[in-house]
Amino acid sequence: MSVITLTIDGHLVSGRAGQSVLEVSRDAGIEIPTLCWLEGLSPWGGCRLCVVELKGEQRLFTSCTTVAAEGMHVVTRSARLENYRRMLVELLLAERNHYCAVCVVDGHCELQSMAARLGVDHVRFDYLNPPLPMDISHDLFGLDHNRCILCTRCVRVCDEVEGAHTWDVRGRGTTERVVIDLDRPWKESTSCTRCGKCVQVCPVGALFHKGVTVGEMVKDNSFLMDIIKRRRSAQPFVERRRS
Ligand code: FES
Repeated sequence: MSVITLTIDGHLVSGRAGQSVLEVSRDAGIEIPTLCWLEGLSPWGGCRLCVVELKGEQRLFTSCTTVAAEGMHVVTRSARLENYRRMLVELLLAERNHYCAVCVVDGHCELQSMAARLGVDHVRFDYLNPPLPMDISHDLFGLDHNRCILCTRCVRVCDEVEGAHTWDVRGRGTTERVVIDLDRPWKESTSCTRCGKCVQVCPVGALFHKGVTVGEMVKDNSFLMDIIKRRRSAQPFVERRRS
């Protein structure tokens, strides 16, 4: 396994060939904000929170989908990046109905914590307030499109870990939605195994257990540990970009 050396925020760090910039940074103790990325699942590159600057390049790069290379110079913190990340969180908050006070994961929400971490205390954009439905047809779980940030963690965990591929995404832009079995009510799904992994990886309150109080709705991703260990020991990083 070959080793590469690069510079991140002025520190010389090393990583394994094939790792993403995000993985090398995290291994070196340099935190980069993420929302759609979750260790154990394939990178998606959808939220853009993990953007970094690369020396010699004008545009920004998503660190979760960029392969680290020998001699790279990476900047993970700058005024430009902080402004960009704040704007992204504001856009997410404005796009759907994120009312924390009446959300099932209030206090355990990754979008909420990210907003606090980035100092987002107001939103500069008009709220779209789309009239979105909920699917509470399943006896165990619920789906609230109002809270969904389209990170596709549910799609990826169902496909890559559970192997059911119940979830998918339909539409584009503001009409984009996660769907079950080609857009059927959850209770009619013939592929759902009722494992609940989609609920556990959801970073926000879009997927939740029914009959659970706000205080109890803490997500638990520990079932991904085996995959994480296996990937860390051998498998090369595979670059996957949004189409
Ligand atoms: Fe990299 Fe979302 S974490 S794009």
